[in-house]
Amino acid sequence: MDTKRISSKLEQALSAQMNVEDLQSHVYLSYGIWATDKGYNGIGNFLFRHAQEERNHAIKFMEYILNRGGKPKVEALPAPGNDPKNLADCFNLVFKHEVENTEKIYALVDLAFAEKDWATWNFLQWFVKEQIEEESLAMDLIDKLNIAGGDQATDESLFTLDQTLAKMPDEAEMARNATAENP
Ligand code: FEO
Repeated sequence: MDTKRISSKLEQALSAQMNVEDLQSHVYLSYGIWATDKGYNGIGNFLFRHAQEERNHAIKFMEYILNRGGKPKVEALPAPGNDPKNLADCFNLVFKHEVENTEKIYALVDLAFAEKDWATWNFLQWFVKEQIEEESLAMDLIDKLNIAGGDQATDESLFTLDQTLAKMPDEAEMARNATAENP
């Protein structure tokens, strides 16, 4: 009996996303190496932790496809691309990668909706929520650098920023958890 509970089209699309998440992991690893090499160990630490999160995202896609009787395929990954030019470029690139990833997740949601595959649609809602967090974290990086002085940031403010990012949580605050007591 055929126990596959996912269409070949969605199986391939989710498998492609598994590889995208792995590529994201490599991109953040490369940015973390760049930052650490520049002396920003705290920022590097944040980016290394984020690389691990992306790896976890890939594993979620892998497990889901397997759970539904499909078989994901590990593909050759392209090189992560050039190093950022500076911190502002690095944080802008992180934001850009996250927005692009959100668009990919939305395309998968569209596909699941079109097929009326509610199990996959439901699985993908976790990623819809996760992308709100990821974009919010990336916006926060850009804001923090601006507050530190942007292009005019002093060594002292960059030192503080680096220390702040070393301790920055991996999860962003979600609007859905906000209350009047704890906005
Ligand atoms: Fe897996 Fe940053 O999205």
